Amino acid sequence: MPYKRYKANSNGRFKDKVVLITGATSGISKTTAYAFAKEGAKVFFCGRRTNLGEANASEIQAFGGEATYMQADVRKESDVRNFINGCVQKYGRIDIAFNNAGIEAPPKAIAELSLEEWNNVIATNATGVFLAMKYEIPVMLRQGGGIIVNTASVGGHQGFSNIAPYGASKAGIMSLTRTAAMELTGKKKYSCQLLFSRCS
Ligand SMILES: NC(=O)c1ccc[n+]([C@@H]2O[C@H](COP(=O)([O-])OP(=O)(O)OC[C@H]3O[C@@H](n4cnc5c(N)ncnc54)[C@H](OP(=O)(O)O)[C@@H]3O)[C@@H](O)[C@H]2O)c1
Repeated sequence: MPYKRYKANSNGRFKDKVVLITGATSGISKTTAYAFAKEGAKVFFCGRRTNLGEANASEIQAFGGEATYMQADVRKESDVRNFINGCVQKYGRIDIAFNNAGIEAPPKAIAELSLEEWNNVIATNATGVFLAMKYEIPVMLRQGGGIIVNTASVGGHQGFSNIAPYGASKAGIMSLTRTAAMELTGKKKYSCQLLFSRCS
């Protein structure tokens, strides 16, 4: 693993920045958490799998970075509220929020999908980002600025077969992000961005 060779730079590009990340137990969020911590950020992240979350926080601390894991399920409002409050209680602010937790449904045509499969993807991807922004925005407005990055997908831009809930959720994230940008225009230093990650 490249992380084994990581050494945190306390004077790095994100020195003293507080970075909140949803879903950094694995994948893109995990890599991002490690990269921010390597550059001096204080990382506060969640995910449902406690064993992985705690292992990742320990691994970051082992290379000299600062990271805290808190279990939270982004489908649940109380979990998201507690997670964001936990970050503010610990660090007093959120400089960068990376709302990246997401899932796919089993590949199925629309007529084959159950309502439960649909609802689970929408709840995780779209409602999860909505809930995160709902609690992040007041913190950032209070402190006078901040950056929110939401992960969308090319699947939200154009049609693909067998990914209806995923595509709809990612299109929803794009719309939420644009709406936030419009609502917050002119309100101090504020940035709301979409991340389009691509399959390589
Ligand atoms: N990989 C790609 O090529 C690609 C392409 C386009 C977009 N994306 C997007 O990028 C994001 C990350 O994808 P990935 O490939 O890194 O996926 P991944 O490896 O499966 O990681 C997903 C992360 O989201 C977390 N998560 C899922 N459901 C959650 C929930 N209910 N509450 C809290 N955390 C939850 C998972 O943690 P737990 O399971 O521990 O909860 C995990 O840490 C997703 O939004 C995905 O749609 C990925």
